[in-house]
Amino acid sequence: MCGIVGAVAERNVVEILLEGLKRLEYRGYDSAGVALLQSDGNLTRIRRTGKVQELADAVANSEALGSTGIAHTRWATHGGVTEANAHPHFSSERVAVVHNGIIENYVSLRNQLTEKGYRFTSDTDTETIAHTVHEELKSGKNLLNAVQSAVNTFHGAYGTVIMDKEDPSRVVVARSGSPLVIGLGLGENFIASDQMALLPVTRRFIFLEEGDVAEITRRTVDIFDKHGAPVEREVVESNIEHDAGDKGGYRHYMLKEIHEQPTVVRNALQQRITETGLAPDVFGEGADAIFKQVKHVQIIACGTSYHAGMTARYWLEQYANVSCNVEIASEFRYRKSVVHPNSLLITISQSGETADTLAALRLAKESGYMSSLTICNVPGSSLVRESDLAFMTRAGAEIGVASTKAFTTQLTAFLMLTLALGKENGMLESDESGIVAALHSLPAKLEETLAITNGIEDLAEEFADKNHSLFLGRGDQYPIAMEGALKLKEISYIHAEAYASGELKHGPLALIDDEMPVIVVAPNNELLEKLKSNVEEVRARGGIMYVFADKDAAFEGDESMRVINVPHCDSPIAPIIYTLPLQLLSYYVALIKGTDVDQPRNLAKSVTVE
Ligand code: AGP
Repeated sequence: MCGIVGAVAERNVVEILLEGLKRLEYRGYDSAGVALLQSDGNLTRIRRTGKVQELADAVANSEALGSTGIAHTRWATHGGVTEANAHPHFSSERVAVVHNGIIENYVSLRNQLTEKGYRFTSDTDTETIAHTVHEELKSGKNLLNAVQSAVNTFHGAYGTVIMDKEDPSRVVVARSGSPLVIGLGLGENFIASDQMALLPVTRRFIFLEEGDVAEITRRTVDIFDKHGAPVEREVVESNIEHDAGDKGGYRHYMLKEIHEQPTVVRNALQQRITETGLAPDVFGEGADAIFKQVKHVQIIACGTSYHAGMTARYWLEQYANVSCNVEIASEFRYRKSVVHPNSLLITISQSGETADTLAALRLAKESGYMSSLTICNVPGSSLVRESDLAFMTRAGAEIGVASTKAFTTQLTAFLMLTLALGKENGMLESDESGIVAALHSLPAKLEETLAITNGIEDLAEEFADKNHSLFLGRGDQYPIAMEGALKLKEISYIHAEAYASGELKHGPLALIDDEMPVIVVAPNNELLEKLKSNVEEVRARGGIMYVFADKDAAFEGDESMRVINVPHCDSPIAPIIYTLPLQLLSYYVALIKGTDVDQPRNLAKSVTVE
């Protein structure tokens, strides 16, 4: 979603800001801008719709430079994609603001500020921040105090950075609902919405907490909590690779990340499973004692992470004997739900910053859950910091908007959780040893599966001119069908729906014709014969099918059915294995269609607003 970078230094910060924005491009955006406090005392601003490169070209053709500056990539919420709506927003050529999030009461603020004589030049909610701070400055406050007063009038979510032309030695930042991280340099300091933006200039970070306001100068960082009291926040050394943002020779980040899966899954398992079971305390100190008491699991997530949760429900109930509910965070947070006794709340998130998931966690913490666990890919993220237990998926930075390796490492984490909870709930020894053996075989199986790429490229050719598609699966492959459909619609813009194949005759069969490809995931498991009956139902109605099947599943290809053989694997890991061909299918379809694979239209990597 929107990205923020800011810097206070002695040197010219233009390149730092632009490089930071480039490193945030993966999050999704539609316009970009930069504002600088120039050495001649002027406040200058350049904004462009489109890519950061267009902004960089415009900056290169200008005289703009400065040692205090802020920059932003905008993902439109209030107001269309225009230069006037791009950030930074100004008030009276004195105050400059960048903002992630939504000021929900912006209409009433706008009315009040208009009455006071402010003229709005954009349709954004953000411009109300600039004018509100300006109004506070007018009453004689310094920038810090002006921002502290202003934020009291905002309802909604914000991560915001503010500069004052009259005081070029500092920026003031405020966080409520949208993440901000301070980067500490030598004689220079930085601010960003994501540490990725600042890795070329520092590895030392302070993650701001909810309600924090901070004043940043070249040499000082002063943080105040939501009550205005000075606070110390921990300095964290980042171990994220500096070049995690490189494509490593692949055409797209998504393809690179698909191919990284054997390695990152191996990392996710490292030192966590032994030859015979789970290593002790892999879910963190105190986790085993909590797991002993767990009688129910409530999983909350969004998008792909939600599909991981749906898959986990099959495993937790089948192997670990633990009852489990799974819900989309945006639904969970706005309805009254019953908390089962001894319930463990689990959030799943690649980014750890998804607004709905975070809000659901905060709500649940007040609702009587026994404990909370997050399965997350970003150390130091809000979900990690606010959960009782955190299990890191170790997928490494995921840049492509379409989630791939984050998903398969989430599933790997859930198989380990199944072992941990199963141990306390009478899991069968054969199931335990079966899962452990399957996990050991997983990285190699993933490598084997990636080798079927060629067949999938051909298949994508037949697919790319279609407008609709149907994905079918049964049991723990139903969420995988859902994930396959999500991937296809996200990056190829082809309408895709997923059904549990037993549901076909309850409605979707009416859609079947030779213009609607049907994709089937068919491992050789106890539901195979049922699935084959569903395949026959489609065939009898003239449907064209693409079946990803275990080579021993005995599907005979013909003109109505293309069969793509997937290496045989043990049942517990089949959902992870069958995910890969579906990722590759959507990638190659998108490639043929020429869409923006890594930054699909209208989408953002990290959804930090509601
Ligand atoms: C998946 O490809 C998506 N881009 C999206 O559905 C994503 O999984 C969702 O927004 C949740 O994000 P999170 O895992 O960072 O919480």
